[in-house]
Amino acid sequence: MSDAKTHTMTLTDNATGDSWELPVMAGSVGPKVIDIRKLYGQTGYFTYDPGFTSTASCDSAITYIDGDKGVLLHRGYSIEDLAENCDFMEVCYLLLRGELPNEAERKDFEKTITYHTMVHEQLLNFYRGFRRDAHPMAIMVGVVGALSAFYHDSTDINDPEQRMIASHRLVAKMPTLAAMAYKYSVGQPFMYPRNNLSYAANFMQMTFGVPAEEYEISPAVERAMDRIFILHADHEQNASTSTVRIAGSSGANPFACISAGISSLWGPAHGGANEAVLSMLHQIGHKKNIPEFLERAKDKNDPFRLMGFGHRVYKNYDPRAGVLKKSCDEVLKELGVEDPLLELAQELEQIALKDDYFVERKLFPNVDFYSGIILKAIGFPTSMFTVLFALARTVGWVAQWNEMIADPYQKIGRPRQLFLGYDKREFPPKSKR
Ligand code: CMC
Repeated sequence: MSDAKTHTMTLTDNATGDSWELPVMAGSVGPKVIDIRKLYGQTGYFTYDPGFTSTASCDSAITYIDGDKGVLLHRGYSIEDLAENCDFMEVCYLLLRGELPNEAERKDFEKTITYHTMVHEQLLNFYRGFRRDAHPMAIMVGVVGALSAFYHDSTDINDPEQRMIASHRLVAKMPTLAAMAYKYSVGQPFMYPRNNLSYAANFMQMTFGVPAEEYEISPAVERAMDRIFILHADHEQNASTSTVRIAGSSGANPFACISAGISSLWGPAHGGANEAVLSMLHQIGHKKNIPEFLERAKDKNDPFRLMGFGHRVYKNYDPRAGVLKKSCDEVLKELGVEDPLLELAQELEQIALKDDYFVERKLFPNVDFYSGIILKAIGFPTSMFTVLFALARTVGWVAQWNEMIADPYQKIGRPRQLFLGYDKREFPPKSKR
């Protein structure tokens, strides 16, 4: 925890004339923060910030976003550089360990991850308890939470080594669990992991392969899948990561914390948006209907929003969307897919980017706008899109969880409230209710 106090700021209560000095702290980059940890004790006031729009809930050295400039850095490296020059395993190593691996470290890390790719056979029974038409995210919430009942040797969260084993297990087992959720829904046999394949190719093999024949994957698709994983790996203190941190702040089991993150990610305002983008494009149906839907998106009385547009932090083009757009073109070309939805998406993007409502509010396409189109071209059903996001984000969640547990200043997350309900009142007898 940084105590990098730079100066103080005076807070004055104009009603009473009382004033207090609040420390101001500076990070390595980004806006300064007002340290209000002692505010209540000193002043008797809480702060009010629904949705934490102006509140730093922790300090972190993992991911930095400059939302106005559209910059995303992991441990100082730009997402564009990472997507161009690294594979997902290297990015996982970077997020977890803080530096890019050298060749020996990379090999060793890959070996560690592949060593943990299988899941306990008993876990297969959990899948069989679900209906075949269960949403795969519902299955993921259940089975990842269930891991906490299996791996008792890596749950002493105060032991850094055990924390790392739990982290490796989660990163390694997520593709296996995600592919099993898919296999269960289509009634095909579960496929065991193959440790001679890359992380992305192994996931594809477990998802689309069948025991009856060898599975072959196109290198372009393998690369696109790997890049999608990189682009979703971490995104600082978003809703699901904050959920993981707050769940973990009580000392909870790591597998249960990640299951909490998966639940938070599922919502359409967060990771569920990739699925929602595709439903929206289907709903719009044709270019000629774009103006009507844009009007609906602007109408505050209509719940319709342009999915894949807007972001709490980015007030510029989401840099991940730029990389994905390029991948999208490559994959569709490689697979020979001509998707009218891509054309519709491009047209919608162009029209929205020129529309005053979107321009004034700085609403740009986000990562979810193009990912669904690539995933659809590769052959994933829409219900799997958010599962893929969860798979990739697991490394970010465990990196942030590790950072939190190791922070000596870490406290249980416990926000305050502005209470607007009744003060104590007379208890009425049943006859008067
Ligand atoms: N369509 C229409 N209007 C929008 C949209 C949208 N997609 N997004 C924001 N606005 C409007 C909003 O109504 C508000 O207008 P006004 O100032 O007139 O009241 C203004 O823009 C500011 O929006 P906000 O709701 O205060 O912004 P927020 O930071 O609370 O919400 C968001 C961010 C991502 C939840 C929101 O933009 C949204 O719902 N987008 C669609 C869902 C989506 O694509 N989510 C994926 C986010 S990126 C991946 C991830 O994090 O998982």
